[in-house]
This record gives sequence, structure tokens and C-alpha cells, in this order.
Amino acid sequence: MMYTRTMVASIAALATFADAACDITLSLLEDVDYGPNVPANGADLPAVIITNARAGDTLGGPASTDSKCVYYYEPDSIQLATNVSYDGMAQFVGPNWPYVETDAGCAVSFDDSVPADSIFRMDGYVTVSVYEGVLFGGLPTYFWPDDTPGVGPAMEGLTCVCNFGPWSSVDETGQGAHFEVEQSLPEMESDRIDTVASEEASVAEPTCAIMLSLLENIDYGSNVPANGADLPAIIITNARAGDTLGGPATTDSKCVYYYEPDSIQLATNVSYDGMAQFVGPNWPYVETDAGCAVSFDDSVPADSIFRMDGYVTISAYEGVLFGGLPTYFWPDDTPGVGPAMEGLTCVCNFGPWSSVDETGQGAHFEVEQKYPEIEMDSADMLSMVQTDVVTQTDDASMTEFEV
Ligand SMILES: *[C@@H]1O[C@H](CO)[C@@H](O)[C@H](O)[C@H]1NC(C)=O
Ligand SMILES: *[C@@H]1O[C@H](CO)[C@@H](O)[C@H](O)[C@H]1NC(C)=O
Repeated sequence: MMYTRTMVASIAALATFADAACDITLSLLEDVDYGPNVPANGADLPAVIITNARAGDTLGGPASTDSKCVYYYEPDSIQLATNVSYDGMAQFVGPNWPYVETDAGCAVSFDDSVPADSIFRMDGYVTVSVYEGVLFGGLPTYFWPDDTPGVGPAMEGLTCVCNFGPWSSVDETGQGAHFEVEQSLPEMESDRIDTVASEEASVAEPTCAIMLSLLENIDYGSNVPANGADLPAIIITNARAGDTLGGPATTDSKCVYYYEPDSIQLATNVSYDGMAQFVGPNWPYVETDAGCAVSFDDSVPADSIFRMDGYVTISAYEGVLFGGLPTYFWPDDTPGVGPAMEGLTCVCNFGPWSSVDETGQGAHFEVEQKYPEIEMDSADMLSMVQTDVVTQTDDASMTEFEV
């Protein structure tokens, strides 16, 4: 049987993934052999193939670097649709559906079979999760071990035979070939990221560790926060200086604020990813480089929520988030000087803006927040994995499956 691709991969494209040890390559294959389990949306759908995923054990089973058809798992889609905290964790655990994984720093490349205007080439559509899983539109991807890998540039012999039960191969639009999946689409993000990146290119950044402090006896000026004039406030020192989409930021020790529309996004939008809703000249975003550390001085108690893993994070836009909410500076606040931060003001608890109290809540109004899950110890995790393996092995759909 002959398999042809939308376009023949060029020698250059092949050389690219041969040279880079840890880059995965996406291809779009036509005339796919779906075997007896033809996807519900048609036997002639092209399928997305991944080459050079990381070989080795995953929580879904052993993966290889071969060129293979990739699948979605319906419970992941349900998580994405219903769980605002969902972060691309694969819901399947067992021996038969290896996760498509790669190292966090690896590039995602495309061969010529993927059209220039394909959604797969959009910034933010194909991502690598915190678990090092390859996500399409926020959904994990899997291999089926009994699929035959493709050989050579035409991927001869490749099969994609497990469009069955909760499993669906991926069509050229990124949707499930067998059933519809929820996706978190990047939409306008690529434009924003490009804008931010070009603005930041001109800014010199000597150091990149931000520091959080909790300051008492704050000078709130005439705009005392609704929850009290004696609330301590969170201060950030050493944010990245330079232009942001909210205005120019400095490294000074300054009071930070929430913006109410961000809280509304977090409460209502399952895809919300910490993008600052304010754009303008007067409310600089608190930003830092993606790899930078977040540190705390002694004013932040050891049991403070701010020290919990996952409470202070850096967004995909390099904004500093508290509980999933972006933070901002008010340019007319006076920065604090010295260890006691003398002279610092925090005068813009006003309208949709609120400074941050010692619990992470808004001092002026209540905000929605996303709290990190309590970490399980490794024994809990192991017993959970073992329970799931048993469940999946006993699953009738796995034994009834026919190739
Ligand atoms: C929501 O997603 C997070 C991150 O993957 C996970 O830790 C949490 O258990 C999920 N919540 C539910 C109710 O499934
Ligand atoms: C939901 O959040 C995503 C990510 O920030 C954004 O692209 C999208 O426009 C938001 N949707 C709405 C309806 O605001």
C-alpha cells in the first residue's frame, strides 16, 4: 500500500530533526490506514504524526522516537472544559498509552506537510506542559503502542488504528477525528507575545530575581483600602525594568495591585492564562524573565501563602501572578528606600484597583484566586498510580479492542 503526504518533506526539514537531539517534529499524513476503527468524522481525514518524542517510560507506558499517530483521551478534554486549574496533566495512567513527552527546552518543529497557515504553527498551540507532555491546544497527546510506525519520509506502513472508546486521533485542524474535544486556543496571544518580545528586546536586564516583602504601617494616602487602613501590603522589589503593555516598570520596591477585570476573567473563563486585561500607559505590569527566581525577605512569614509552591508564578507573558492573577505597579506611588522601605506609598486603592494584603487577597475588594493543590507525598502518589493501573487494565474497552 502506498502512502502519500500533502507535500513531500524536503531534505532540509528532515535534516533539522536529525540534527537536534531533542526536537520533536509534527507531520500531517494523508491516506492514513485507520484499520477497522475508522474515525467518526471520516476515513479520509489526514492525521497528525509526531516523530522524535522522548523515548522511555512514561506514566502511560513506554514511548519511542518513531513516527507515530497521536491521540487525545476524552477525560483530558473534560478536565479542560470543567477545571479552571487544569494544567495539561494526562488523566490516563496505565501501561498501554504512552504519553508524548519531550524535554522542557526542546523545540517543536514542523515538516513541509504542515501548511504555513496551520493552527499547529500558531504560537502557543503546541506547547510542552509542566509534566513535559506535548499538548495541542492544552490537551495531552498519546501514542498507541500497537500502531505501526511510519518508515522514511513518506512514513510508509504507518497505522492509526485506535479511534475507539475515549481515544481519538487528531485531524489537520487540531480537533479529534473521532469526537469533538475542548481546546484552549491561543487566538490573539501570538500578536501580544510578539509585541512584548520586541519591546523587551531593547531593555537591558542586569539581574532577574524578584523579591517579595510584606510591609506594615503603609501610607495609603487618601485612598484607604475598604478592608482597613492598617492592612500590611505586598511589595515587590527588582521586577524587570522597562516598557510593558501597561506602561514603564522599574526595579524599585513598590506596592503591587490587582485589576478587577483580571479577577473576573479568572472566575469566568476556563482558558484564562494570566493575561493582563489592562493595556495602557499608567499601570506597568510586574514582569520578570521566565527563568527567574522568586525570593522572599524576612518580612514574609514562613507559613505565608506567598511561599507555597505554585502561588506566586510567572505567566506565559512573563507577568508575575499571585494565585493566577497578574500584578501591576502604580507609577505615582513613591518607592520605598532601604531595608525599612521608608517613604513608600500605596495610594491607588481606587476603582478597579486593589493593593494586596498579607493573605494574597485584595485589600480593597475580594478577588478570585487559583490556589495550588496541597502536595501529596510520594507514597500517596505511588498508591494512586497503582490503583489507576489496575483500573485501566481491567477496563473492558481495552481487552475488547480489535485491530
Ligand atoms: C484540576 O486540575 C488540577 C491540575 O491538573 C488538578 O491538580 C486537580 O486535581 C483538578 N481538579 C479536579 C476536580 O479534577
Ligand atoms: C479567555 O482567556 C484566553 C486566554 O487568556 C483569551 O485568549 C480569551 O480571549 C478569553 N476569553 C474571553 C471570552 O475573554
